[in-house]
Amino acid sequence: MSVEMSKPVPRPGILEIAAYVPGKEHAPGVARVYKLSSNETPLGASPKAIEAFKRAADNLERYPDGQARELRDAIAAVHGLNPANILCGNGSDELLALLCHVYLAPGDESIVTEHGFAIYKIQTMAAGATPVVVREKDHTVDVDAILAAVTERTKMVFIANPGNPTGTYVPVSEIRRLQAALPKHVMLVLDAAYAEYVRRNDYESGIEVVSSNANVVMTRTFSKIYGLAALRVGWMYAPAAIIDALDRVRGPFNMNAPAIAAGAAAIRDQSFVQEAVSFNQLWIETLTNAFEALGLKVTPSVTNFVLIHFPDVDGKRAVDADEFLTSRGYILRAVRGYGFPNSLRMSIGPEEANRGVIEALGEFMGRKA
Ligand SMILES: Cc1ncc(COP(=O)(O)O)c(C=O)c1O
Repeated sequence: MSVEMSKPVPRPGILEIAAYVPGKEHAPGVARVYKLSSNETPLGASPKAIEAFKRAADNLERYPDGQARELRDAIAAVHGLNPANILCGNGSDELLALLCHVYLAPGDESIVTEHGFAIYKIQTMAAGATPVVVREKDHTVDVDAILAAVTERTKMVFIANPGNPTGTYVPVSEIRRLQAALPKHVMLVLDAAYAEYVRRNDYESGIEVVSSNANVVMTRTFSKIYGLAALRVGWMYAPAAIIDALDRVRGPFNMNAPAIAAGAAAIRDQSFVQEAVSFNQLWIETLTNAFEALGLKVTPSVTNFVLIHFPDVDGKRAVDADEFLTSRGYILRAVRGYGFPNSLRMSIGPEEANRGVIEALGEFMGRKA
């Protein structure tokens, strides 16, 4: 008989996990607060998605379709995919977790990058495996660094493309080079949460690479450009064998009915997405230029957020800027946990918030240290 413990004890390693820290949303004592800390869209969701969500309220007594067919069919139609290769999840977070739980075991390693999204590490450790962190180059994923870290224990490689909190991207030629050099049993996970925002000819979200390989999956989300973060809608495009494995383990009704209905209506409304892309493009450029004109460094971003680097000068550091901006109601994201102790990440907000941050940072940089 095993040794008796005084209370239930989690599996080894669980208590070593640093829990995910969401973006701040409060600025105590400030009347008007702009939350620019979670890369949410300032444009809300498509009116068609909101309408579909409300209609779903009439049938709350029914279980949802466990296959999320309406949503998978709508995604497949818009992206030209086979719905059999699509799995939907309660946010892409759920799909990333499922991948780890199904494909990693104690003793295995996953490769994550220096500034990569926190969930990869958390879910790798939750599965009892070991995350191996590799350096990035100029705040960008470095394929050679990843390849150099592959061992016989490596089972998965996680890349956010574009990256969060960096906002940079890896061209499709580099993704293909990485895939070609990885052992065939190593899964390459392309997390394309911000794909819709990217306007670069050498970028590809992962659809092509997944279609032609058995060891690549792509995850996407409705939390960003589609404005459905509250509903938790994510999807994955993957080879049939991987979908089959995950389907055995996921909750049978992991997507709720209002989320399925709203997601399907949202993705059918591509003109809404185009407007959001144009709005974002305008403000990414405006904010980047304005912050650089103040003497701040900004990592070039293809997403809906910018990473701003502060001077290493007393009174002008990221912590000081964070405090100053919060006191004026602008909540940005501290990114110390992502390897940027002296930077803040700002999500593109509504026009008045964007202008307000430019003005406030002007005041912050102009004042005496
Ligand atoms: C890179 C990246 N992947 C995944 C997610 C999670 O998205 P979801 O809301 O679909 O769980 C986020 C959310 O911030 C993200 O930035």
